[in-house]
Amino acid sequence: MNTASDLNDPKRMVERGYDKVAHEYARLEGEIEWPRMRWLKKLLNKLQPGSSVLDLGCGSGDPADIEISKEHKVTGVDISRTQINLACQNVPTGHFIHGDAGSVEFSKESYDAVISFYTLEHIPRKEHETILRRIYRWLKDGGFMLISIEAGDFEDVLGEWLGVPMFISCFDPETMKQMVIDAGFELIDTAIEIQVEQNNDVPFLWLLAHKR
Ligand SMILES: C[S@@+](CC[C@H](N)C(=O)[O-])C[C@H]1O[C@@H](n2cnc3c(N)ncnc32)[C@H](O)[C@@H]1O
Repeated sequence: MNTASDLNDPKRMVERGYDKVAHEYARLEGEIEWPRMRWLKKLLNKLQPGSSVLDLGCGSGDPADIEISKEHKVTGVDISRTQINLACQNVPTGHFIHGDAGSVEFSKESYDAVISFYTLEHIPRKEHETILRRIYRWLKDGGFMLISIEAGDFEDVLGEWLGVPMFISCFDPETMKQMVIDAGFELIDTAIEIQVEQNNDVPFLWLLAHKR
């Protein structure tokens, strides 16, 4: 149950929400495939076998981390304990951490790639710049970042999603792209892609970038 205090603590709200809807979310992708695996393939084509990949907001690990783990080492972070438990089952070779992508820390230059799909919009947008700069620090030289984020301009909006209260916060796509560049990245590929969720068209900004 969400309490009044959750409204002052959006991360707690998101954590409780995903703990509750993890299984419904896993069934949300319908017959029209989301662009996620197509973008992931673009990244995987650039990695050497045995690369270290970090997934922020890894969810259940299905399908992205299952695919990545066929050739690479996966570390996943998720704020939902239910999602982390599912990820441990779905990707037995992965290393999964129950934590907040906004405050988790890793060593400098420890990953060949960092991905984050459909997650940053659940984190207050005032934290996005810092997260991008942290990702940059964790990447090895020439490492890659692939992220997707809802393509909207929402300042800390509370709504309902899959029957639970949910928090959304993101900058408009042009601001987001500039923040990625300002963090030191070079953009390789970017597009806004529409995906279908329960008969609704939802636009997401996809960004593939590398550390110069
Ligand atoms: C829409 S799901 C996406 C899951 C997965 N990346 C995918 O492609 O299906 C968003 C995930 O981000 C997680 N999440 C939200 N806020 C987070 C935060 N601050 N730190 C870590 N994970 C977070 C949620 O628990 C949820 O599993």
